[in-house]
Amino acid sequence: MINIDAHNHVSGKSIYLDDIIEWKGTLFALPFDAPVAHARLDHVDVSKALSMSGVVVVLTAKDIPGKNQIGGIIADEPLFAEEDIHFWGQPIGIIVATSERICRLAREQIEIKFSELPVITDPREAHAQNKLICPPRNFQLGDVTSAWGQCQHVFEGKVEINGQEHLYIETQGAYARMKEDGSILIASSTQGPTAVQRTIAKVLDIPMHKVEVDTVRLGGGFGGKEDQATGWAVMVALAAQKLRKPVKMVLHRMDDMRMTGKRHPYSADFKIGLSSDMKILAYEATFFQNAGAAADLSPAVLERTLFHATNAYFVPNVHVTAYSCKTNLPPNTAFRGFGGPQGKFVIEAAISKASESLGVPAADIQKQNLLNDGDEFSYGQIVDQCEAQNAWNSCEEGFDLKSIQERVRLFNEQNSHIKKGVAVQPICFGISFTNTMMNHARALVHIYQDGSVVVSTGAVEMGQGVNTKLLQIAVRKLGVQPGSVRIESTNTLRIANTSPTAASAGADLNGKALEMACKSLWERLEQVAAEHLNISNLRVQNDILYDNQQKTDHTWHDLVQKAFQLRVNLSEHAHYATPLIHFDKEKGKGHPFAYHVYGAAILEVTVDCLRGTYHFDKVQIVHDLGVSMNVHIDNGQIEGAVVQGIGWMTLEEIIYNKEGRLMTNALSTYKIPDIYSVPSEINIKHLETEGHELAIQKSKAVGEPPLMYGLGAYFAIRNAVSAFNPGKEFAFDAPYTPEKVLMDLYKGR
Ligand code: MTE
Ligand code: HPA
Ligand code: MOS
Repeated sequence: MINIDAHNHVSGKSIYLDDIIEWKGTLFALPFDAPVAHARLDHVDVSKALSMSGVVVVLTAKDIPGKNQIGGIIADEPLFAEEDIHFWGQPIGIIVATSERICRLAREQIEIKFSELPVITDPREAHAQNKLICPPRNFQLGDVTSAWGQCQHVFEGKVEINGQEHLYIETQGAYARMKEDGSILIASSTQGPTAVQRTIAKVLDIPMHKVEVDTVRLGGGFGGKEDQATGWAVMVALAAQKLRKPVKMVLHRMDDMRMTGKRHPYSADFKIGLSSDMKILAYEATFFQNAGAAADLSPAVLERTLFHATNAYFVPNVHVTAYSCKTNLPPNTAFRGFGGPQGKFVIEAAISKASESLGVPAADIQKQNLLNDGDEFSYGQIVDQCEAQNAWNSCEEGFDLKSIQERVRLFNEQNSHIKKGVAVQPICFGISFTNTMMNHARALVHIYQDGSVVVSTGAVEMGQGVNTKLLQIAVRKLGVQPGSVRIESTNTLRIANTSPTAASAGADLNGKALEMACKSLWERLEQVAAEHLNISNLRVQNDILYDNQQKTDHTWHDLVQKAFQLRVNLSEHAHYATPLIHFDKEKGKGHPFAYHVYGAAILEVTVDCLRGTYHFDKVQIVHDLGVSMNVHIDNGQIEGAVVQGIGWMTLEEIIYNKEGRLMTNALSTYKIPDIYSVPSEINIKHLETEGHELAIQKSKAVGEPPLMYGLGAYFAIRNAVSAFNPGKEFAFDAPYTPEKVLMDLYKGR
């Protein structure tokens, strides 16, 4: 089945937030924000802005009826800065006017007086000053201290990993209007409608049942709207409540880039110990996460860095520690992979360092250490249904790694100023929210008396195709035609207390709930068919009823009609909670993941050693989808994730200056992959496995894992650089931009 949104997307008919037909009397809101990264806020003078024609109101912290607080995990983030400014771009208030243009003109008239304070942008500096978001975390397995003695080789190093701008095509936005009795309706471009609802209730001081959040779809989220869509929705809700008028806000790109957090930059130290036969015996790493000025989701991201610190490898002795460091940057947040990619990058750097020092190909070390059934992760979960070696072997053999390596070696021998590099990138990613409490979902299904079906779940469609997968589930379970099922918007009145659509678990959690709802409906209809239509073994195919294999004269419509006449309940609301998972945060042990997703990729790059530029020739992937329920969508997810991962590792460079101001604040200074920079060829092979019972229809979660194939891009380029400039020690400092590549090519020459 093709993506059910495909035609509307391509023809421009899909409704995004800014396409909602405007309600009469709509006003427009625009935030105004801190022009400095750390300061005491002395005075805000809005009088000139207020006097402008068309400006209706300017709202700041003192206009908040409830709590000036939007922090999710930790209550440390005001909606509007009150006494202090903690990052450049921190919202101080909003201007509401009759047009967005007037808002922009008025913003220039707002005077902000402040007394500057010292700015910290570096996580190690924050750590040294003991500025932490939460207590440090660590995971341990075995005993590293005694293991070092058994190691033949020990290497240490330092790693820098920069952040990443989400660059969802649809910027942040929300649209609110009042209903009766002080209740309020908010359309929000959010991955987490319930978080929006809960926070609006808190800030506006109204109960959650007075807040209806409705989300049709997002033009991309990538984690950037898991938590950070909330503030904007609260702002328009606040204005709507004050003014009793509809209020809308859609951020301009540069406002969005300046004011929102990004993927977390990390700085890290590693120590890795290997035996003479290249087994990793011990691994120690310390991670300094650049959290920004407030917690946001950083503590959870930090934890996932530890969960994935050993990637797809079994290491018997592990000690990994992570600090969430408070700096004066916009609070960093969820981004596809959720801290996992940073954890993996560091062990890949450690392996790379060992490989370069020992003259052993990295792939040989990687392959020696892949996970196997029965191994233990540092967090106590025992590996089962492991596909790490299966994926690697299938990739190595299927794409003939040996001959690729030989071809690259020969090419490099014959060419002096163009060099090729190749890297293999295995992945292992745990599926479930690491916070066990969040792994649940609900689905509501109505069968109307004409036989048409409407489905609501907690899943938010953001381009990942979850709605198509949900539709497939309903169609398969009920036997109706795809055209008979409609997937409705995600709405907090229909589905309550949802977790955000995140952790790649949207289709699993909501799909399982939908399966349960459909099953209950089906059982009722089966009974009606047996008792009233004389069909003992009901099957529905393309709206026709079958008894065993025998076609009958009855249709789906007849069956629903009969059930309706018999006053059978044609609606069902089902709840699913992932079984078996648990995790003890204190001990750092448990079984947090329903299952793991595995895979391996081979990346080939050509580096122009005069210019420092590069191009990816080929990325070849064996990916573990179990039994894919939609090959087109899943391959689309893999391709998109790989390109996004390569972009992060290569072109995309976020720069804040020493004063904490974002220098890469537009698409002229922040380069994302385009059609010219994507790999010339991406080949995807699916690993043939049985899938997993806890994956929806045995089709494993696909949203985040393939991003981590992109890590290999860094090491492929590094290998090409080493071929041009052998024997040099290069820093591990991602992204490997052409500028850095050029410097390394000529380092020490
Ligand atoms: N794909 C598209 N097109 N747009 C997105 O915003 N977000 C990614 C991934 N794929 C995203 C995407 C992220 S960060 C996650 S967690 C998953 O989709 C969420 O959806 P799922 O749980 O349904 O896989
Ligand atoms: N992954 C993604 N998003 C999340 C998680 C997680 O584990 N926990 C909370 N939000
Ligand atoms: Mo995805 S980072 O879990 O929204």
